[in-house]
Amino acid sequence: MKDVLEELEKRRAEARLGGGEKRIATQHQRGKLTARERIELLLDQNSFEEFDMFVEHRCTDFGMEKSKIPGDGVVTGWGTINGRVIYIFAKDFTVFGGSLSETHARKITKIQDMALRNRAPIIGLFDAGGARIQEGVAALGGYGEVFLGNVLASGVIPQISVIMGPCAGGDVYSPAMTDFIFMVKDTSYMFVTGPDVVKTVTNEEVTAEELGGASVHTTKSSIADRAYENDVEAILQMRRLMDFLPSNNRSGVPHLPTKDDPERVEASLDTLVPDNPNKPYDIKELIHKVVDEDDFFEIQDAFAKNIVVGFGRMEGRTIGVVANQPMVLAGVLDSDASRKAARFVRFCDCFEIPLVTFVDVPGFLPGTDQEYGGLIKHGAKLLFAYSEATVPKVTVITRKAYGGAYDVMSSKHIRGDVNYAWPSAEIAVMGPKGAVEILYRAELGDAKKISKRVKEYEDRFANPFVAAERGYIDDVILPRNTRRRVARALDMLSNKTVENPWKKHDNIPL
Ligand code: HXC
Repeated sequence: MKDVLEELEKRRAEARLGGGEKRIATQHQRGKLTARERIELLLDQNSFEEFDMFVEHRCTDFGMEKSKIPGDGVVTGWGTINGRVIYIFAKDFTVFGGSLSETHARKITKIQDMALRNRAPIIGLFDAGGARIQEGVAALGGYGEVFLGNVLASGVIPQISVIMGPCAGGDVYSPAMTDFIFMVKDTSYMFVTGPDVVKTVTNEEVTAEELGGASVHTTKSSIADRAYENDVEAILQMRRLMDFLPSNNRSGVPHLPTKDDPERVEASLDTLVPDNPNKPYDIKELIHKVVDEDDFFEIQDAFAKNIVVGFGRMEGRTIGVVANQPMVLAGVLDSDASRKAARFVRFCDCFEIPLVTFVDVPGFLPGTDQEYGGLIKHGAKLLFAYSEATVPKVTVITRKAYGGAYDVMSSKHIRGDVNYAWPSAEIAVMGPKGAVEILYRAELGDAKKISKRVKEYEDRFANPFVAAERGYIDDVILPRNTRRRVARALDMLSNKTVENPWKKHDNIPL
């Protein structure tokens, strides 16, 4: 027996060493942790149960039969984050560059299947060189099965990808089908084809960082939802994020006990909106003052900053916040902002996370750039997402709600449940100046007349009462009471039940 135990320990120690001490040292020199170190940090202490530690590849081409490393380039298993079960796989770059073989793919699909069957989130940590070149089509088949796993689990369990090194070729499409992608600055990059192929095909010269680094994907392509300074920060933020997310689409949101009083009054909000309607203010101040304990996890903080989306809590339960940001482009809805918010709204609806929307929007952004880029279709995505959402929806209009954007931003007309406005709200087809220029074109040369017309229009529409008279706004509330009113509305809606007509799936304008 003793020999067998020793053999087990020897095999375990060998597997834990992955590609060996030299490659581990190189990993550290590059400022990266190893796969196992990352898992240790991510999961609760001693909670990791590793599966398939002894799995090896079966390839016999290119002399591969002589080169086998237990684990085959990916560490898989499950553990807990603050006590809740999470499934995990982490690519081990020290073993064949983390490349994906047939058996490596099987390890991942086993974990995907378990996560789906047992309805718990799955997190993938990426640091790899794509398909195992020596395996050819067997690796491609493996990728296909991982992709299918992502699609079947989508909307059932949260799937999170963290890119912590290279992520190229076949490796990019699995993260792309998960709910959120996070990256580590300077050490991670993502692209379908690398700089060498780009040079051959298009003659462009780019570095890996320029082609697919964290700054590209968080600010330009919007592939990544956030970037962090290093492995440790990224992993600690993932622990924070998981506390906001439900385990699955039926479990309900987690409840974190809080001492923050839902009745808390924030007098400073009464002066948040400036007297001058064209002066910006920071909508994040409102978000931070409304949610529990000032704790807001922003998604896509560096992309389409004219809309803010992210998770907070009210009375300890997760909410999704969507808010126009007057500080950037006056909070206008453009294609990027619409796509960003639409995807977030759909995530929240998939996982039964109530939506709180703060509205200050001057409309959709005009111009050829936007129209040629498909503003109609992108704007429709957000309209579609809010309309189909059956989760509780609470909306607060703080200032402008103009034109089509008024309808889109979780209005009563598309099943907003509770719609409030601050006294500073202006709900109209368009802003006073634009409206007067169209209605009184003949008087445009007469500045005095025009300013009288503007005043008339403002008196009639630059307030929340026309909408309130029609019941489109349920109440006009004091800004200082926003937290209390939103919390009470969410309590009231906690048993909301709405079913959309049966369909195989909808046809959102992609
Ligand atoms: C097998 C690989 C590998 C791969 C890296 N390695 N990528 N082995 N298949 N795809 C091995 C290397 O041989 C090396 O082994 C070790 O991993 C570390 O790699 P290095 O090149 O020394 O590291 P580095 O200089 O950091 O460069 C990392 C890299 C580079 C940029 C990722 O390795 C690279 O370009 N790899 C190939 C990327 C690629 O083209 N993949 C195929 C994509 S096609 P030793 O033993 O020396 O340590 C694809 C199609 C799938 O994925 C499509 C499905 C839809």
